[in-house]
Amino acid sequence: MPVAEDLIAPTRERVLNPVLDGFGLSARAHEHRLLSAARPALPYLNWLGMLARPLLKVPGLGWITADPLTARAVLTDPDHFTLLSEGGVGHLWAQILGDWVYDLFDGPGHHDLRTRSRELFTEKTSVAFVSHAWDGRLDAGRAQFEAGEELDLADLSRVLVGQMVVSLLGLPVDRSRGDAAYREIFETGEELASIALGTTADTVLPPEKIAIAREVVERLTGHIDAAFESASGDTIIGRCRDLGLSVTETKGLSTLLMVAGTETAASAMARMAALLYDTGEQHRLIENSAWRENAVREALRVTSPAPLIGRSVLADLTIGKHTLKAGERIMVLTWTANNLAGEYRVDRPYIPQNRQLWFGAGRHLCLGGPLARAELDAVLTLLIGDGRPFEIVSREYGKRVLIPAYRSLIVRKQR
Ligand code: HEM
Repeated sequence: MPVAEDLIAPTRERVLNPVLDGFGLSARAHEHRLLSAARPALPYLNWLGMLARPLLKVPGLGWITADPLTARAVLTDPDHFTLLSEGGVGHLWAQILGDWVYDLFDGPGHHDLRTRSRELFTEKTSVAFVSHAWDGRLDAGRAQFEAGEELDLADLSRVLVGQMVVSLLGLPVDRSRGDAAYREIFETGEELASIALGTTADTVLPPEKIAIAREVVERLTGHIDAAFESASGDTIIGRCRDLGLSVTETKGLSTLLMVAGTETAASAMARMAALLYDTGEQHRLIENSAWRENAVREALRVTSPAPLIGRSVLADLTIGKHTLKAGERIMVLTWTANNLAGEYRVDRPYIPQNRQLWFGAGRHLCLGGPLARAELDAVLTLLIGDGRPFEIVSREYGKRVLIPAYRSLIVRKQR
């Protein structure tokens, strides 16, 4: 199997030794602090990842890889790797949602579901979803921001993501409560995802966690039974129905969207802002707006909000000098693999060997990739749409969270 080591200049120094630069703590240092505040073991795992090219076996954890080509080879090989057995996220969900997950998440039903849901998030529908869900709130936020007010971008990101969920799923919500209602939706998604916390080494859930998770899923998708027939084609429920998905598939997909697309997207939004400021790259982007697409892609690469992807080995396989045995586990260290290419740069071209590893690869490649990109593009407009740079006033890292993220990131226009 090919290894990307020879394709990427060694950047061990930069990955391991964040240094101070002219903007205060370096972008790299903030990212490291953010990761360790979220999960103290993450920086160690990333450090071990430097030795996992192509692979390393870690006692108690199983195999890890931080080599982009090996990572993609693992994620695109359903004959040897699965996310359904113990160690994979499908195994978690099957305990919560039921045995149908085995068909829909990775079995023949998954292929069918992905084929039919391919058109859900295209570049075009995603821009429309963002505009539909966010325009009002973003315009209000932007007006205040451009007038010189301070803005907590981390909080706003959670509110916006909550609004997206409400809009996509047609979730009933008391709009008169304003941001608070959407924050609550975000927190419900967080609650569901937190069930996966502490499962890095073990995906068997205790009965009490299963009961809590089922109750949360019901809160989020219970309305779908009644809404299914009449849901508007603007919502995911209506689109799923129009694409021929059953109620069960629609509920399963909606749960997945909540879990996969809330914390990850909010994390990327505030971290993109921090990178733009910490590296000073916002100034180059303001000068050359043709780099917007790169700026978004780079934010996804450097933040890699889903830093680990787990799989189980289905059948024995040899990779280079290593033999992986059926039943063992492997973790793809996406953050490390993606960060080997270097610092955040708005003019960095597409990196062929990494492709979009921050969105995974193969049959489970993120379904919401275009939506995430459209969301980040909208946040760029909020931040520098008027051609004036911003500064970070203060920041707080999220503690003990599944997806590393800023708890608070106060920004304001530079004076
Ligand atoms: C920056 C934001 C995001 C990142 C970094 C991200 C990352 C990922 C990754 C790494 C996977 C693959 C997991 C695996 O192979 O086990 C995935 C799957 C998925 N993502 Fe995303 N995601 C993001 C946003 C979104 C959004 C906004 C949505 C939709 C609202 C979404 C929906 C999904 C779904 C449905 C899957 C499961 C696909 C399948 O199993 O076939 N994601 N995402």
